[in-house]
Amino acid sequence: MPPMSELIVTIPPAPGGGYKIHIESGSLSALWLRIEDQFPKHRKFVVTDANLVAAGHLEALIGTIEVPTYIIDPPGEVSKHINTAVSIIEAMESAFFGRDSVIIALGGGTVGDIAGFAAAIFKRGIRVLHIPTTTVAQADSSVGGKTGVDSSVSKNAFGAFWHPSAVFIDPATLTTLDDDQYRSGLAESVKHALIADSEYFDYIEANVAGLLNRDLGVLEKMAYSNCRIKAAVVAEDPTEQNKRRILNYGHTLGHAVESASNYKLLHGEAVAIGIIAAGLIEQDLGLGGPERLDRTKKVLNALSMPLEIPKSIKKKDLLEIIKYDKKAVNQWPRFVLLEGIGSVLCRDGQWAHEVSRDVIEKTIDRLYP
Ligand SMILES: NC(=O)c1ccc[n+]([C@@H]2O[C@H](COP(=O)([O-])OP(=O)(O)OC[C@H]3O[C@@H](n4cnc5c(N)ncnc54)[C@H](O)[C@@H]3O)[C@@H](O)[C@H]2O)c1
Ligand SMILES: [Zn+2]
Repeated sequence: MPPMSELIVTIPPAPGGGYKIHIESGSLSALWLRIEDQFPKHRKFVVTDANLVAAGHLEALIGTIEVPTYIIDPPGEVSKHINTAVSIIEAMESAFFGRDSVIIALGGGTVGDIAGFAAAIFKRGIRVLHIPTTTVAQADSSVGGKTGVDSSVSKNAFGAFWHPSAVFIDPATLTTLDDDQYRSGLAESVKHALIADSEYFDYIEANVAGLLNRDLGVLEKMAYSNCRIKAAVVAEDPTEQNKRRILNYGHTLGHAVESASNYKLLHGEAVAIGIIAAGLIEQDLGLGGPERLDRTKKVLNALSMPLEIPKSIKKKDLLEIIKYDKKAVNQWPRFVLLEGIGSVLCRDGQWAHEVSRDVIEKTIDRLYP
């Protein structure tokens, strides 16, 4: 692979739509010139968070240049609410930013979702660039155009589809990420391999040690594969009418476990359990033997992911929570299922399937230690 990889993403699928994803380790400190070069006429406003500043990434990006910046503090999900988006927009207005502006989101999925949402609604929409800095953001949230903030009732209650004008990925930024965040975000990479690319799954299997050591060559290759897979799925179904649901593989029970743990389990950890659940359902429905699930478990285990539902979580709570799943029909979710590694089951044009309550209950039972 050349030192800098570039992917052209053809979403939104409108004339003139599409944007580039640049991937290069160590590129952060040279990015500002590149951004100035590509967007010379736009005023730039950076949104980041306090941890990114402490880790030195904001300084690496802007150096000694004075750039209007909004630093989200406290970092993380607690700040992902409408008031943060309002503060960003009012800070831009006070500094006379107009429609010729571009927001540069430097951070994980939280920064990206908030900054993307602010860009979508500021003066009816301005450009946003993503510089993702977590395993979740480099694999998942920076590509695909979903933006939003939480309400006091639910996650991403306020939101918009708003695609970036470009994405710049520097895998070296991951070296400062906390270990649990780093590992748990890798669940989305395993998910991408499972739903779309068996060779990518082989690659992850063979490179677990490199992944755990944050080997930059491995991380570049992973970023490329993740973005290629996610972009291809999103390009086919940008607003999640049907096929985009395959990106929710492992997420139906995963979300329920995450929520029932009161978010003590990280998203990726809960998704790992959800991926095992999907594998058990597949076996039950005759969609594959135990070898596939064994391989998946081995990879997730090597990444120190939990493979079982903690005993403190009650089965009846999980059964209640899944009724609210976004894929639910008549208060019962549809499940994305594999028929092989890299291949999602599609029947009658549908990518998510009805599974009986019996099978789900049995699956949950088998997931307890
Ligand atoms: N838009 C989408 O398609 C999409 C997809 C997946 C997740 N999400 C959203 O993303 C959010 C989660 O994002 P996340 O998992 O990236 O977590 P995050 O953005 O909250 O980051 C996790 C923690 O790591 C810190 N951090 C980030 N990068 C760092 C770095 N390089 N070095 C040191 N610390 C760093 C952050 O400050 C934060 O404390 C959720 O709100 C979720 O809903 C959105
Ligand atoms: Zn996820």
